[in-house]
Amino acid sequence: MQERKTIHESWGSRWIFILAATGSAVGLGNIWKFPYITGENGGGAFVLVYLVCILAVGIPIMMAEVMIGRRGQQSPINAMRDVAEESGHSGRWSLVGWMGVLAGFMIFSFYSVVAGWVLYYLASMGAGDLVAIGSDTAVQRFEGLLADFDTLLIWHTVFVVMVMLVIMGGVRKGLENAVKFMMPALFVLLFVLLIYSMQSGSFMRGWSFMFDFNIEKLTMQSVLIALGHSFFTLSLGMGAIMAYGSYMPKHTSIGGSVLMIGGLDTLVALVAGLAIFPIVFANQLDPGAGPGLMFITLPVAFGQMPGGQIFGFLFFMLVGLAAWTSAISLVEPATAWLTERFGWHRIPSSLVLGVIIWLLGVAALSSFNVLADFKIFGFTIFDFLDFTTANIMLPLGGLFIAVFAGWFMKQVHSREELAISNAIWFKAWYITLRYVAPVAVAVIFILNLYEKLQ
Ligand code: PFF
Repeated sequence: MQERKTIHESWGSRWIFILAATGSAVGLGNIWKFPYITGENGGGAFVLVYLVCILAVGIPIMMAEVMIGRRGQQSPINAMRDVAEESGHSGRWSLVGWMGVLAGFMIFSFYSVVAGWVLYYLASMGAGDLVAIGSDTAVQRFEGLLADFDTLLIWHTVFVVMVMLVIMGGVRKGLENAVKFMMPALFVLLFVLLIYSMQSGSFMRGWSFMFDFNIEKLTMQSVLIALGHSFFTLSLGMGAIMAYGSYMPKHTSIGGSVLMIGGLDTLVALVAGLAIFPIVFANQLDPGAGPGLMFITLPVAFGQMPGGQIFGFLFFMLVGLAAWTSAISLVEPATAWLTERFGWHRIPSSLVLGVIIWLLGVAALSSFNVLADFKIFGFTIFDFLDFTTANIMLPLGGLFIAVFAGWFMKQVHSREELAISNAIWFKAWYITLRYVAPVAVAVIFILNLYEKLQ
């Protein structure tokens, strides 16, 4: 096998790779979105469909991303080009990497706005501003925040700076150090909050809300949501995982690591639900509050509970950490590419990228106030960025990656990179990647678009 030389650093160990990729996967998608979409879509039945999607589509595509990254030893743009050329195909496959970089910028811009809200609530909880807050006040407070351009701008800026400081440090000093401390902290916080919610008195109600197998509530639409979400939550289809894979030490198992990452991501989502819903029920609040669940319902719940101020603070710290480690991976592909293409150091790369994503974020946050009336195809800027990335770009990116790894890349290369000794496991992966994943994504992708555009 031809060994490529990389100009980047690699992770200190296989465990660091697992932590970093889990850090990318576990984010706002797990703690904010998964609990409420589960509740709205039939609880247990939805969880089952979601698990099937993770196993049949998410895991095989994640293995393909890591595999291409590690074989190419470069940013997704250059890795796609080289791995395609190595198999005798056009270097234009790099376009998949380009689309990923663009999707990363776009996701970052609205992700950073929501992360800014999290930081604002963290500060408010810390200052004791939300003690015994009533429902009406909570709504006013959240709406007041959205209308306040300056406050949104401050917190969005703080978040961009936090992310860029880590990116500047590079793979070892920045990313690796960050995930080494933040991920264990995240797991401890989640565990503490789970125990807290177990003592709220409504744990079993929360449990049945999430796990009762309520098949009637499951619709075609929920299947679409489950698949779309399994993409977003595993950070697939835009090169984040590919970039992280390119820093993975050679001769470590890709399949085993990916199973671990997918498992941890799912576990965090389930535990987050179990930490949140009992608290909501214990305070007679509505679990189906949708996006407002975390910013309106939860502060009310925490505000009424013993020790709520401290646990509310810990909760927003947990969400903030999760968003932080995810956001880093959104800009890593572009950073790696700038280093390769222009030989830039990480510091100028981070500064340039920081300015670009900061500006995009300003556009996204303006859509709640000064640019509220500005619409693109009927969407506000914020909704447009969310819609196009989650429903179009990520599924499309994932589809291309599955088709590339399954149909274009030479099988000897994937065999070599994955090094799965058990022939049946390799076949199972290969068949799923060639047939199951692309067909499922294509069908879901088309249905999703069709429905949204109606
Ligand atoms: N997986 C993240 C979440 O669940 O919040 C979102 C995300 C991060 C998507 C990084 C894509 C990505 F590259």
